[in-house]
Amino acid sequence: MKQKIAAKKREKGEGGKLAKSGAVFLACFLLIVLFVLLILIMDRPADWTHFLAEHYDEEIALLLSLLFLCTIAYFYFFYEDREFLYRPSSIFLFFSLIIVSAVLCYVFGRYVSVYARPYAMFAVLCLFLLGRKHALFLNFIFVFMMFSVDLFTRDFPMTISIEMYSSMLIGFVSGTFAVFFANRTHTRLGLLLTGVFLSVPTVLIIFFLQIPNPDYGWIDHLTSTGFQILGCVASAVLTLALLPFFEFVFNRLTVYRLRELTSTNAALLVRLRDEANGTFTHSLTVAQLAESCAVAIGENAELARAAAYYHDVGKLKQPDCFTENQKDYNLHDELTPELSADIIRSHTKDGYELLVQNHLPKVIADVAREHHGTLPIKFFYDKAIRLAGEADIKDFSYLGPLPQTKISAIIMVADAAEAAVRASSDRSPERVEKVCRSIIEERMNLNQFDECDITMKELTVIKRTLVEALSGVHHHRVEYPNIQFNRDREAVKTEDTDG
Ligand SMILES: [Fe+2]
Ligand SMILES: [Fe+2]
Repeated sequence: MKQKIAAKKREKGEGGKLAKSGAVFLACFLLIVLFVLLILIMDRPADWTHFLAEHYDEEIALLLSLLFLCTIAYFYFFYEDREFLYRPSSIFLFFSLIIVSAVLCYVFGRYVSVYARPYAMFAVLCLFLLGRKHALFLNFIFVFMMFSVDLFTRDFPMTISIEMYSSMLIGFVSGTFAVFFANRTHTRLGLLLTGVFLSVPTVLIIFFLQIPNPDYGWIDHLTSTGFQILGCVASAVLTLALLPFFEFVFNRLTVYRLRELTSTNAALLVRLRDEANGTFTHSLTVAQLAESCAVAIGENAELARAAAYYHDVGKLKQPDCFTENQKDYNLHDELTPELSADIIRSHTKDGYELLVQNHLPKVIADVAREHHGTLPIKFFYDKAIRLAGEADIKDFSYLGPLPQTKISAIIMVADAAEAAVRASSDRSPERVEKVCRSIIEERMNLNQFDECDITMKELTVIKRTLVEALSGVHHHRVEYPNIQFNRDREAVKTEDTDG
């Protein structure tokens, strides 16, 4: 019965979220209507009222076709990525990309040439901001939208010119190839070169399309080729110019933003290095481990590294309360175990708040909050039992939430493994394997992975990767023979003192 009620509540909650996303989608669609209206007014500034009244049927057809395409996009997200629909900021981002790209394509098409439209810009921005799968599909929706705008706004009575078809083909080809080419690009120069390479398939397709056309001479071929190269390079340049704007406004993660965040000059990392050097060093090691684990299970390695750099920034509030930053004095010797546990566990919440205040991406802030899940702080729980004879485990447990993503789970395990292996004097592969296995098993027994979709197989791969990496990171130093030489390079002292 209880389960039925819970299922009904969940359904109701989902229904409400979907209704809200539908309303946001419709509101954003009105922005597109505004854009179309603006085009029609710009085309005929003198008599636009008369024109609109005269061609009301074409305008309705255009709006219906745009609405139809937006509905397809809605259902695509509904079936492929429902979480996307639940976040209004994602919907705003999607429509902002459409409108900005449509305005630029329209301006290029009207004032330069339809062949010079920077279609690939939309696809590449979608690739970096929404992901490869979405970019491929949304490129088709965008190209059809531009085709509809061309169809219903350019010529009256309506005609479909070869230019319109060519423009649509350029959109499909350049957008699709741009997603494949730019997917592996990690530098800004690489993205510019992608723009140049992109022009090859588009030029070839338009060349073959125009061959049967007897009115299309070599001069026309050369002109359209030049404009297509211009459009592809313009796509790359405009992407580079607009990407930081979208990253900042919608707080999105891209490979470029991740690079900036993991630079040791990043403001919070500089603070961590100066104010909590022990935590900073620990975070660097966890980052190295998390990156290897992410690669091993096919997760985003750059994101894992960035999230690990920032997972303990909450310790900046009271750095001296954490072992890795302490020297001789331990503040906890003077505190009750309850107070100590409270200080320790609050670093996850403090970290989350600090990261949100500093406008770091939410996914990184979430990892900081989730990386200890609801685990008990065993040292202070044990101290409380010894002092008072009993203690409530809830007062000595992290407040959660549990890891929601595989990246969070990786950092939870890598963090604990790094600390445990660092504290152990025996760092042989057998010992490291035993430590990593018990860390993973303990977290499984305490249901710490229940809310993320990590599999047993992936946890095994993570364990193996950690053992390999930690045996390498904390390997035993080679014992150097303690020989001293005199000026004649003769060995004079071989006592076994510390080297
Ligand atoms: Fe932590
Ligand atoms: Fe940590």
